[in-house]
Amino acid sequence: MVIATIASGGINTPALQAVEIVAHRGASHDAPENTLASVNLAWEKNTDGVEIDVYLSKDNQIVAFHDKTMKRTGGGTDLRIVDQTLAELKKLDAGSWKSPKYKGEQIPLLSEILPTIPEGKRLFIEVKCGPEIVPFLKADLKKAGRKADQTCVICFGSDVCRDVKQEMPELKVYWLSGQRKDKETGEWTPKLESLIETAQSIHADGLDLNANEKIDAEFVQQVKQANLGLYVWTVNNPDEANRLAKAGVDGITTDRPAFLRDALEK
Ligand code: G3P
Ligand code: CA
Repeated sequence: MVIATIASGGINTPALQAVEIVAHRGASHDAPENTLASVNLAWEKNTDGVEIDVYLSKDNQIVAFHDKTMKRTGGGTDLRIVDQTLAELKKLDAGSWKSPKYKGEQIPLLSEILPTIPEGKRLFIEVKCGPEIVPFLKADLKKAGRKADQTCVICFGSDVCRDVKQEMPELKVYWLSGQRKDKETGEWTPKLESLIETAQSIHADGLDLNANEKIDAEFVQQVKQANLGLYVWTVNNPDEANRLAKAGVDGITTDRPAFLRDALEK
């Protein structure tokens, strides 16, 4: 955690706010994303959390991977991840695209990543498919036997967030969304009020938003007043990270956990 001094409640009283540093797809600046190499490197760099993306394979195994197809990071084919069995996925090279040093790095199962979480740290599991994954996720988490606060779920699908929270109320769930600025009107959508309303309606514990200039101390305060946490992605720029930490966000997702922590501590 990085402790940032922030102004609270609009008054010039400094407050201490712990900012959780979350390694995006593992330490993905240095190692191939969503592999055991990038996850373990992130823990070595003493990140607070690691974020991974997951899908359900054709034979109902939960695997870590970001894209829908294997084109970019799984050997170059157009095959869809959800159409492959685990045995087929395990044959792929998920490391060479990043560096020859990582040749042969495999697509990991969630069940291979869960045991790597150190005490006091947590894994952000981003679900990239639909609610069909929920019973399998529940089974994997139960089998791994990690503490409830060592994992949490994030997803753009509000239906997935709702189902996860319903099935595993002990897990923290953050609803992912992205705000965009209309080039002509300058208006930001979706509006914060609407994001808060959806998050509350699905019983999410917070929002996980694309870092943007709209997120300032007042914005954060509005989220906190709704009893929601606020995480942001993906920030590699130290100035932007400092600004967001001072605004009071709970956590920052970054490809460069150690670099960003050093920059924030300075
Ligand atoms: O942490 C959330 C962020 O990872 C969402 O975007 O495309 O990197 O999965 P993406
Ligand atoms: Ca992600």
